[in-house]
Amino acid sequence: MKRAVYPGSFDPVTKGHLDIITRAAALVDELVVGVLNNNAKSPLFSVEERVNMIKDVTEDLPNVRVEAFSGLSVDFVKKCQASFIVRGLRAVTDFEYELQMAQTNRSIDHDIDTIFFTTELNYAYISSTIAKEVAFYGGDISGFVPEKIMERVLRRAAAARQREN
Ligand code: PNS
Repeated sequence: MKRAVYPGSFDPVTKGHLDIITRAAALVDELVVGVLNNNAKSPLFSVEERVNMIKDVTEDLPNVRVEAFSGLSVDFVKKCQASFIVRGLRAVTDFEYELQMAQTNRSIDHDIDTIFFTTELNYAYISSTIAKEVAFYGGDISGFVPEKIMERVLRRAAAARQREN
């Protein structure tokens, strides 16, 4: 069975992430989306909420599984009995960090390869951070996050803004 893991923070999942998930899922028997449980990054959504949002937007993709993980990505990949890590490259600015991460992962575990997908041009400027920023100020995020989770992101960002004021 050809299995890959797409690890990330997904706080929240964006249209760019969903595009990568869809394209990667078409290439493997099973794609596991691994949501990093990392409170140090002070996420807007809990790991359970992030997992549930991805489950909701991938419900029509039968070979996609979504799980939370802690610790090293390569350990999660091993636990899933997968051999590939999937990551997206939006622009050249992503490259240095992504290359370093892929080489680090390969130096930790030489059985694991990273496959990069180039982001669709119309999603190239989108990130979870940008989506949260626009939502925080009440802007239109319909181009950034899947429609199914849009209200959840707007509500959470509005609550965060109220707390700040
Ligand atoms: O969506 P992100 O925040 O760009 O994803 C980054 C992620 C989660 C893939 C990366 O931070 C990660 O793999 N973290 C787990 C710890 C780890 O394995 N570190 C070694 C690779 S640098």
